[in-house]
Parts: sequence; C-alpha cells; structure tokens
Amino acid sequence: MIYDTLLVNANALLNLDDLQTTPNTVIGIKDGKIVLIEQARDFTHYKKYSSAELIDMQGQLLTPGLIDCHTHLIFAGSRAHEFKLRLDGASYTQIAASGGGIKSTVAATNLASHEQLFKLAKNRIQIMQRHGATTIEVKSGYGLSVESEIKILEVAKQLERNIPSVSIVPTFLGAHATPPGYTNDEYIDMIIEQMLPNIKQFTDVIDGFCENIAFTPSQIERLFECAVNMGFRVKLHAEQLSDQKASVLATRFHALSVDHLEYLSPLDVKYLAQSGTVAVLLPGAFYFLKETKLPPIQELRAQHVPIAIATDMNPGTSPFLSLPLMMNMACVCFGLTIPEVWRGVTINAAKALGIDKSVGSISLGKIADFAIWQSDSLDAIVYSPTDNVCSGIVKAGHVFERSSCHP
Ligand code: NIG
Ligand code: FE
Repeated sequence: MIYDTLLVNANALLNLDDLQTTPNTVIGIKDGKIVLIEQARDFTHYKKYSSAELIDMQGQLLTPGLIDCHTHLIFAGSRAHEFKLRLDGASYTQIAASGGGIKSTVAATNLASHEQLFKLAKNRIQIMQRHGATTIEVKSGYGLSVESEIKILEVAKQLERNIPSVSIVPTFLGAHATPPGYTNDEYIDMIIEQMLPNIKQFTDVIDGFCENIAFTPSQIERLFECAVNMGFRVKLHAEQLSDQKASVLATRFHALSVDHLEYLSPLDVKYLAQSGTVAVLLPGAFYFLKETKLPPIQELRAQHVPIAIATDMNPGTSPFLSLPLMMNMACVCFGLTIPEVWRGVTINAAKALGIDKSVGSISLGKIADFAIWQSDSLDAIVYSPTDNVCSGIVKAGHVFERSSCHP
C-alpha cells in the first residue's frame, strides 16, 4: 500500500468507549481516508514508503477532529445590548416579545451583503478551528424570506468551498421565527410552498424552533410531514424553555436529533431511545440564559440515548466559539463525565448529523480528520479549556498548523 501521508508517534484516542489513548500510533492516509492504524515504537522502516510524507507527531495527543453539530454562525449585528438588558432583569422571552431577540438579528443579517456575511462567518470558523473543530454544522434561519434564506445557504456553500480545513454541514432553519406581516400559519405555508423546493439543492436536513415564543407542535408537524415527503430529514429545537412535547413529535419523524432539552420530561426519553434520535445538549445557552432546569441526564444515560454537545453559536443565547469550553460547561452544569463529553463532540455529534459512517472516530475507512493537542491529558483539555492547547488540525489527511487557522 502506498500512502499519501503517514502520521507516526501519535498518542491517539482510538477508543472512545474507555477513553484510553494509544501511544506510538502510526496512521496511514490515502485519498484523505484512514487506511492503516498500528502501533510502532520504531518507525524508521516506514521511511521505505518513499512517496509518503512522514510526519512525526512527537507524542502529541491526536483525537478525532471535533464536530460542532449545532451552530447559527452566519449572522450580522450584535446583541450585546440585550445581554445588558438581561443583566438588568429582562428575560429572553420578554426581549423577544418586544421585537428584539431573533428578529433583531434577522434585520441586521438582511441588511448585510453576501460578502459581509462570508467574512464574519469565516472569522468565527477560524476561531472554532483553533479549538479543534474540523466539521461544523451551520443553520440558516436569520433570513426568513426565500431570497435571504438562500443567501445564507449560499454563504454556507461558499465557506465550504473556500476553507479547505473545515467541512460545513448546512441545515435549513426557515422555521426559526415568523417575519413581520405573516401569521405563523401563513409563514409555514410559505416555507412549504416556496422555500423547501428551492433549498433542496443546498441541504437535505431541516430544523425548526418549537416553543411558545416560536412555532406550535401542530405547525411543526405540518412542516415536517411535507418535508419528509419531499425527502428531507429533520431535527428540532425542542424543550428549550418549556415542555411542548416537541421531542416526542420529532421522533415520530425519526429526527436525527432533538436539541436543548432542558424541559424534556424523563418519561419521554423512551421515544428518543426507540427512534435512535440523538439528544444534543447546549450548555452555552443554558449558562448564558441562567437556566436552572436540567435536562434529564440520568434517564438519557439509563436508556442509552446518544448525547452530543455543541456550541449553539448564536448572538442571542450562546455567543461562544469553543467546543472545549462547552465540554467543560457540560461537565460542570449538567454533570456529564469526561468520557461522555468527548463522545459528545466526536462520534455522537457525527450521529446527530447523520455522518457517523464517515467521521467522528479514528477508524479504518473514515476520513482522516483529527485535532492535535499539546496536552498529554484528555482530562486537562476539558478542565482548562481556555489554555488553547489545540496545536493544529488534520482535515482529510492535510495538516493545518494552528498558525494557519488564524484569520
Ligand atoms: O438555539 N432557540 C432558538 N434559536 C437559538 C437562539 C437564536 C437567537 O436568540 O438568536 C438557540 O438558542
Ligand atoms: Fe440553536
């Protein structure tokens, strides 16, 4: 076998179950995929693969590239003033009801050009990469008209084409809020009739926000029925502020994931288990909104529901760009264990996006996406996430030093 690249002397996280690392790991890469994993102390004989680039990892920790499975990173404007209002006592719901919240970001995003949105999003992605991300999901949802939702999805496509060190996974979130001049039902009609047929070229996954400040379960049901008939897969912002039974609804459509879940009833966890739906927890939003209600962690564990962790990067509820920081928050705020949060940003995040056959672990046949860490301890990365110990990433077999991830 002739390899394109051989990584040698890596301390690799090959086993996500027991979270043991394997020193002296050699990884052979061909056409961007992992084709060899073995252990060798002496790697001089690998030099005979003369065409292969041999890279000595010098004992550094090599983990699967981190996957951020829930972000809203294409937007313009700032919501710092809302942060101040909340510090003075206003709630997220009150700010939304008085015309702020998602609607204010929609107004700023609609004023921004394609180029401005690209530049803002690219900068955010580069920061995320410096914290180990190699795959990032990006939702639309700050446009709310046919043209502007397409504009956001086009920016997502352009980011994927222009940043070789990251994979962008776009999701259509037309049902995020209702634009001025429409009732919720009229806007759902518009999504079904005018948006879904036009966004199919960009993504086959749709999302929605089911909440008393957004869409009702029956409106989401109507949307999902049409979308699934058109061949879309679904995921849902569910049980973030109240128990709407939105997760139960989503599992009837075999949702890839349901996200947030602070108000999910422990009695409803069985539906997630039955449909193989991933529970995506978003500790940044929990923390930033000063939420106190915890997702039903014990029940999710007991019923073996895969738990993923994501940044939810957005200007209103989670202005954070670091998955390691979210891992720390998930441990401290939700009581997750360190192995759980590592699985949460790797294999389970891949499952939440339906891409776990190709990424999410260091396994033969998968894409060679890795994060390289100067630390020798998986615990320490979660313990002190602002140390910025990610020294680089590998994307489809190409090494990008930390410095090349700088804007
Ligand atoms: O995931 N919940 C809905 N969407 C975002 C918030 C978006 C915003 O406030 O701009 C979330 O928390
Ligand atoms: Fe979100």
